[in-house]
Order: sequence, then structure tokens, then C-alpha cells
Amino acid sequence: MTAKRSSYYLTTPIYYVNDVPHLGTAYTTLAADVMARYRRMLGHDVYFLTGLDEHGQKVEQAATAAGMTPQEWVDDLAPKFADAWKMLNINYDVFMRTTDGAHKKSVQAFAARLYENGDIYSGNYEGWYCLPDETYWAESDIEMPEDSGEGGDVAQNEGAVPNCPDCNRPLQFVREKNWFFRLSKYTDFLIDHYENNPQAMGPDTRRNEILSFLRSGLHDLSISRANVEWGIPLPWTEDSDDPQTMYVWFDALINYITAIGFGAGTEADDEEFAYRWPAQVHYVGKDIIRFHCIIWPAMLHAAGLALPKTVYAHGFLLTKGEKMSKSRGNAMTPAELVDRFGVDGYRYYFMRDVSFGVDGSISDEAMVQRFNGDLANDWGNLCSRLFSMVGKYCEGVAPAYVGDIHAEDAEGAALRDVAAELFARVEDAMNRFDYSGALNAIWDLVRAANRYLEDSAPWGLAKDPEKADQLANVLYSTLEACRVVALYTAATMPETSDEVMSRLGLGPATAVIDLEAAAKWGQLPAGNTIRKGDPLFQRLESTT
Ligand code: MSP
Repeated sequence: MTAKRSSYYLTTPIYYVNDVPHLGTAYTTLAADVMARYRRMLGHDVYFLTGLDEHGQKVEQAATAAGMTPQEWVDDLAPKFADAWKMLNINYDVFMRTTDGAHKKSVQAFAARLYENGDIYSGNYEGWYCLPDETYWAESDIEMPEDSGEGGDVAQNEGAVPNCPDCNRPLQFVREKNWFFRLSKYTDFLIDHYENNPQAMGPDTRRNEILSFLRSGLHDLSISRANVEWGIPLPWTEDSDDPQTMYVWFDALINYITAIGFGAGTEADDEEFAYRWPAQVHYVGKDIIRFHCIIWPAMLHAAGLALPKTVYAHGFLLTKGEKMSKSRGNAMTPAELVDRFGVDGYRYYFMRDVSFGVDGSISDEAMVQRFNGDLANDWGNLCSRLFSMVGKYCEGVAPAYVGDIHAEDAEGAALRDVAAELFARVEDAMNRFDYSGALNAIWDLVRAANRYLEDSAPWGLAKDPEKADQLANVLYSTLEACRVVALYTAATMPETSDEVMSRLGLGPATAVIDLEAAAKWGQLPAGNTIRKGDPLFQRLESTT
């Protein structure tokens, strides 16, 4: 075990296999991928987990409706997720499937540990359950329908079915003997944790939401189901006359540690787990923060394990003010958008135009605007114009920088300053999960380079042999700005960055492992062949 490695373990939620991936699940995954790529470029030993949540009633029902067994169903759909992530250039390290034998075994070991510690007991569950969300709801969270004799005992209101406070779909009433986790016991522990560790949950609004929920008190959590077959057996009930399967969320949350060796049994697995855990960040959508910020940390604490350093929640993607979803008919598929905008156009749009952490409206119009304005005009055009000027005026090779021969070249100095400040600005933004802010900072350099080219007019300098040094300096500096931009945009637009680097006669940006050093000004070797190539982004028309 080398002490030098610096682990950066990050995760996405594992997605339900009840449908193919959509823009919402792709959004969480993309944000995690951009962070993973960025951290790799800083030299961190990144381990990026994504995967599938394959158990539970919802998946079981989807399979039955399709006339398949649950295992056939998940085996059929799993490759569709892997394909979608490939199409989006998502570079994960491990793809979890909760039907995997090793995961099941480790989950059982985790549950057994809690059972032996006295944190799990048997009791009667009576209440409402949301199947699409796989969530139990307390009576106090639910609004009973008008005709249900409000305020009465929930059980008496079985005839009138309330809707889920989260997704608004009808709940189902469940009454059965279950096994419970002593969640309520950890209320004060969790309050202390979030009060004392502001970085434990972001953004701040979500942390406040969790704190106020905690202060209102917690109920113990049912962690088993008597009538759901498609799940991991609770080990101590397996041979009893009342065998139960694990509540799907209990099984799913544990994937974050089974993926890195927890409970696998070998010394190497234990070492891996000790090295990787706790996770640096769990990426989640705002709809699943209670699971990740209340249930999961309590489970970990009960098992004597450290808590994740940060859980970060993003908002929803909205179209025309509404949550985008299939049932509303306003869903767009990742493939449709990749066809139109290319993979990097897709990645750039979601990271630049939607503020991470709050709800964001997306539209075709905005996508076209970003694509044409930021990518085709600002970035793509800068490269084409510049590379063709180098072709025309310098026989296609990078000129040598002549030194500060024109003291009045304030714009040249300004360009270098913008580049010099970039590392600190991007780092600061990325540490705050402000992807859009990081890209905006990078665009300051793109804009400065365009301005510099415009103001110094190389086409005029080229006409005057006396100004050859000045021409060399302008072209060299702008090429250097392009190199730096390609490095900083590589986490978001890996293909384009590697292409620009190759046109500059350089190795791939995505292979960099010390971004700060690589982005220091002046490293483009004079004499490199510069290739113009096709436009990086072709302008588009809006369809709306
Ligand atoms: N299986 C659970 C997670 C278990 S993690 C231990 C689950 N799966 S899910 O398939 O429903 O995917 C959840 C993820 O997709 C969340 O991060 C959620 O916010 C995201 N999105 C689903 N629709 C969304 C939008 N319209 N917009 C943005 N993201 C949303 O929950």
C-alpha cells in the first residue's frame, strides 16, 4: 500500500433498471464524469463508480409487465446503460450491478453486523408506500384525500388512497411484520454531524432542509419486505418460516462500499476499502437526499464506518417550467441530442447552461444558442482563423516568441494574465461544484484571445516585413492561449480538446496529470506543425 497515492472516490446513484437512461440520469452521471476527469488531470487517484439498482418491487413489476423474469429483464437493460454512458464519453472505473454475487454477499455481511449490534429489531409495519419511488412515508408527511375522514388512523383510511408527497402518484397501503433499523437513535448524531461539518452536504439550502427535517425527529425504518421476492434475503430470516428480502434502498446504498471491497473477505479487499473509504463525494439529485444524508450515514455509523465527506445534490432539469419526464411527454433522449450537438456539444451545454445545485430550464433554443455562440463562434472559430493564419503567414509552423519587443502590447500582457489566473479560478469553482463558473472563467481566456487577434490584426502585420517579430508574437501567444484553453476544457469536452492539441502538434490533453504545471504559459514548442483541420463545431439552426 503506497502512502503517496491520493484517492478521490466519487459515485453517482445507481439507477433503477425500469427503463432506459434519460436526460436526468445522464445529467448526474455527466457531472460526476467531468469532476472525475478534472481530478485525474490534477493527479488524483480517481475511482468513479456508477451502476444499476436492480432489485425491488418496481423492477420486478416492470419485468412482469414485459413478460420476462426480473433477471432476464435487468440483463437485457443493463447494456443499454453501458451504451448510453459510452456514447456520452463517461469514463467510469466500475459499473455496479446489485444482482452481482459479491455485492449480495457483502450486503448480507453488513446487515448481519447491524443485527448483531442490536440495531435491527422485528416489528409491525403499517403505513403507506410509494412504489415508483420505493419510499415509505410517515403519516405526518401525507395529505389524505378530502373524503377520507382526515386525521383518523391511517389504517382506517385504506379505502381512500393518498398520493405520494414527492411524485404525486398513488401510494399503496402496507401492513406486515418487518425488520426495522433503529434510525431514530441516530437523530442527534446526525444533527451534530451536519452542524459541525458544513462541507458534509451541499448546496447549503439542502443542508438546511436536512437539518430541519432531522430536528423534527426521525422514525425507525423498515428495512425488509415480506412479499417482495426480488431482493437480497435478510440472512437471519433465510431459513425461518418468515423469510424476508431487504428493502431495495438498504441494499442499494450499501453498493457504495461493496464496490470498493467492503465485506469481500480478502486482505487485499480490506486494504482497498481502507484506502478508498470514505468517499470524497456522492452525487445525487435533490429528490434522493434523505436517503443519502439521513439513512445512509446512520447505517454507516451503526456499522462503525466513517461517513462520506460530501453529498452534493443537483436540481431538476425542467422543460418549459415543468420537470422533464416521459409521462409529461416533454422528455428528450440523450441520443437525440448527441445526434444534433455532438457529444461535446451535449456535455458543454449541460455543464455550462444549467447551474449545478438548482433547477435549470433546458430548451432547444438555449442549446442552439450556446452551441453557435460559445462553441462554433468563440472557440471553434478562434482555432480555425488562427490555425489558417499560421498556415498563411508562418508556413504552418508555430513561430518562436521573440520576447517583449513591443512594450506597448498591453493586450498581449493581458492575455497572459488571464491565463495565469485561470488555475486558481477554475479550482475554486470546481471545489464548489460550480461547473458553469469554471467554464465561464475559461471563456474569459477564449474571449481575450479573440479580442487580441482582432485588435492586433495579424493580416495587417503580415504586410510589413518590419513587423515580422510582432506577428510572430501575436500568433505564438494566441496559439498558446488555445493550448491552455484545450487543457482546461478537456474535462468537459475531451474529444475536442484532444483534437485541438493534436492540431497544435501536441499529445492529448486528457493524458495530463498535472494540469497546473501543464497550463503554465509558454510551453508550446516553436516549430510545431499546426494543422487547420475541419471546423470543430458546425453552426446549427434552431428547430423552434
Ligand atoms: N435507484 C435509486 C438510487 C439509489 S442510489 C443508492 C434512484 N434511481 S433513479 O433511476 O430514479 O435515478 C435517480 C437519479 O436521476 C437522481 O439523481 C435523480 O435526481 C436523477 N433524475 C431523474 N429525473 C431527473 C430530472 N428531470 N432532472 C435531473 N435529474 C433527475 O433514485
